[in-house]
Amino acid sequence: MYKKIIKPLLFDYDPEKIHNFTINRLSGSIFPAILKLLMQFEDKKLERKVGRLTFRNPIGLAAGMDKNATALAGWDAMGFGFAEAGTVTPLPQEGNPKPRMFRLPEYGALINRLGFNNGGADEFEKNLEASKEKISRDFIVGVNIGKNKHTELDDAYQDYKFSFEKCFESADYFTINVSSPNTEGLRQLQQKKYLNEILKSLQQLNKELDTTFSDTAKDIYLKIAPDLTEAELDDIIQVSIDNNITGIIATNTTISRDTLPEGEYESGGLSGKPLEPISNSVIKYIMKKAEGKLAVIACGGISSYDDVREKLDLGASLVQLYTGLIYEGPGLIKKIKKEMSAAAAK
Ligand SMILES: Cc1cc2nc3c(=O)[nH]c(=O)nc-3n(C[C@H](O)[C@H](O)[C@H](O)COP(=O)(O)O)c2cc1C
Repeated sequence: MYKKIIKPLLFDYDPEKIHNFTINRLSGSIFPAILKLLMQFEDKKLERKVGRLTFRNPIGLAAGMDKNATALAGWDAMGFGFAEAGTVTPLPQEGNPKPRMFRLPEYGALINRLGFNNGGADEFEKNLEASKEKISRDFIVGVNIGKNKHTELDDAYQDYKFSFEKCFESADYFTINVSSPNTEGLRQLQQKKYLNEILKSLQQLNKELDTTFSDTAKDIYLKIAPDLTEAELDDIIQVSIDNNITGIIATNTTISRDTLPEGEYESGGLSGKPLEPISNSVIKYIMKKAEGKLAVIACGGISSYDDVREKLDLGASLVQLYTGLIYEGPGLIKKIKKEMSAAAAK
């Protein structure tokens, strides 16, 4: 029904308007209740323990869909094992001028240059806290944090610390986003000296905030770009291991257009099918080099069970998706879980 009736209607309108409309519907109570009825499917065999957390299934919503953490009950009802809200920055910001989100339906792709439009950490934390009573106990919520546009790179670690501390109580895990292509200079934070400063100060804070001394510290993931050289990846892997973080999310959107036919394209981050081979090669590389010391959450181009299988076979512990949901609709999550469950029963 989604692909035949709903999608053609939605795709007649501006992508960002449809996005906001959908998030508003999912932030209410009626849509999540309907989804819960339609999308129910759980199987113990799909459970995964990664880091300190047990995920009811390995399929997660990628960051950027729910920037202000308003629709968590909707993702829970849709059947995801977890959702990553954000990217949140300390202060609210508008993001880049519109239009800034584009569909490429013939390639199952999107290009966006949103630029961390979000309501800021105060509002985010309130939404997160309020949603706690609306979501299932076993639904995991990650918080993806970034820096404000005008924060200098040398001060960036302060922005990450601010949102980390603010959301510490309500977040199940944190993701450090140093890889969005739409905030000038952000990806330079993947360089050794910046990255080490950020991860070190966050792990220190993680220890300080863990006041119970019973390991309520949070798992920290680093989200990386797919456009890095092997030498840059080597540094990132080493710094991540040295700072004892739980894992890497591979990957964010790409600035490359090499996997699209030659042509003129909008600027921004490319996601969906053309990203899949690029992010898979990054995952492969990390698995080889990290020697089991880092968990990988694989992201990029997933729109079917086979795509999930491929990423898990490469060694990923969990997966996330965004663009596939736009093209396939909410039924995709249940479909993937059913196929995964059938394969596990063989
Ligand atoms: C419109 C849009 C906005 C996004 N915003 C964010 C963001 O705020 N933070 C982030 O870490 N990733 C963001 N992403 C990247 C996704 O989380 C994901 O890494 C990427 O889209 C690849 O997955 P996919 O091919 O399944 O979409 C965004 C992606 C899209 C399409």
